[in-house]
Amino acid sequence: MTKKILVCDDEANVRMFLRDLLTLEGFAVVEAESGLAAVDSASRDKPDLCILDLMLPDFNGIELLPRLKAANPMLAIIVITALGTVDNAVLSLKAGAYDFITKPFDVDTILISVKRALEFVSVSKENTALWNLHKNRMYFEDFIGECPAVQAIKALIPKLAFADVPILITGETGTGKNVLAKQIHFTLAGAESPLVYTNCSSIPATLFESELFGHEKGSYTGAVSQKKGRVEQAHGGTLLLDEITEIPYEIQAKLLDFLQERTFYRVGGVTPISVETRIIALTNKNLPEEIKAGRFRKDLYYRLNVIHFTVPPLKDRADDIQLICEYLLGLLRRKYNSPALGISGAAMGLIRAYAWPGNVRELKNVLERAFICAEGDEIGPESLILEEHDHATLKQELKDLVGEFERDVILRRLAFWKGNRTATARDLGVSIRNLQYKLERYDIR
Ligand SMILES: Nc1ncnc2c1ncn2[C@@H]1O[C@H](COP(=O)(O)OP(=O)(O)OP(=O)(O)O)[C@@H](O)[C@H]1O
Ligand SMILES: [Mg+2]
Repeated sequence: MTKKILVCDDEANVRMFLRDLLTLEGFAVVEAESGLAAVDSASRDKPDLCILDLMLPDFNGIELLPRLKAANPMLAIIVITALGTVDNAVLSLKAGAYDFITKPFDVDTILISVKRALEFVSVSKENTALWNLHKNRMYFEDFIGECPAVQAIKALIPKLAFADVPILITGETGTGKNVLAKQIHFTLAGAESPLVYTNCSSIPATLFESELFGHEKGSYTGAVSQKKGRVEQAHGGTLLLDEITEIPYEIQAKLLDFLQERTFYRVGGVTPISVETRIIALTNKNLPEEIKAGRFRKDLYYRLNVIHFTVPPLKDRADDIQLICEYLLGLLRRKYNSPALGISGAAMGLIRAYAWPGNVRELKNVLERAFICAEGDEIGPESLILEEHDHATLKQELKDLVGEFERDVILRRLAFWKGNRTATARDLGVSIRNLQYKLERYDIR
């Protein structure tokens, strides 16, 4: 996207010079000849960058800086002035300017400063977006659980702080891999550092390398400017690679190189770039099977498998079910503003007995539905709509039903033959011994 630059100077020839220079470089330029006009334009035209003269007729540029920032918080500002004193430079930088240039200036100085400032803006915009995203999510999501497997995971996390190794998280769908990954990021890298989320299944194979590692200007048709990849954007923080098995096979080798060397090349780049980015890889697939099927590289698997967390399915976390239920109910009470709503013992019994093939995600959905539909102050078993009955329960139920039916038939025939067992057995087409057995089993005298 074309970047827009606001040039604010009261001298028309300076504005003209900058406009011509910047337009030639492919930027869109808007102009202002006074401080007030600049503040106006900053909020109306939404420029990415402002080149600001410190000496304006209506304002001192240093006073203007906070007003410009207020009008457009993401605006980068480069200050220019003929009065190149250290004091002014320090003051403007303190007031939030990105750079300081003295007149007379040469073309290169201006262009270098402009490009750096714009790059800075785009990285901080991305960061803000990501930060808001994960801040919002994090607010409601703690990785809840106390069962031994989860305790072991939680105990290991802080020990990884200084370990330069990737982390692999596997487990069935809905077990909380994403929640856990975010918790790991927060614990190890801290809230201020970038968390770059990438769902590998959502990136087209042809763009994968450039998305991950970035590209240099002109490296392929369409690469109109240099671009930082996600590995680079996550510098100092975490790159979360969700659905890791969806990375195209050739790119898996490049990821492995990066994990081994800790450096990479942008597409079309010749200088190796090194970053401190922790990789957290997630999948609900069975990796050894993916390897056997030729879809996932064994060598990458070995590299990722150093620290491997397996999040157990909900049905194996009997003690956590109640805990997670209470946590989710707490969220729902707040969301629907009904602090009194609870869950009946019978409903809790059903929840404990169910197999939860969709794990915590399914539990969350079932509870939310029940919460909305519940009459009165309690969720009862009738509000719990469970998709798929556990096979074992189903079999047991079927057996019981058939048994009841059989008992009923035998009782009626026996009554018809006035308790004569031989006649009843003949009538039912079973041996007398078989009938005897069933009478005992169904407790019929
Ligand atoms: N331990 C947990 N504590 C709190 N919430 C959880 C927990 N585990 C899962 N959840 C909730 O369940 C839902 C699914 O979790 P998540 O997206 O992390 O699953 P996943 O393992 O990544 O699943 P998939 O493999 O399908 O991507 C989310 O809404 C999350 O908030
Ligand atoms: Mg997930």
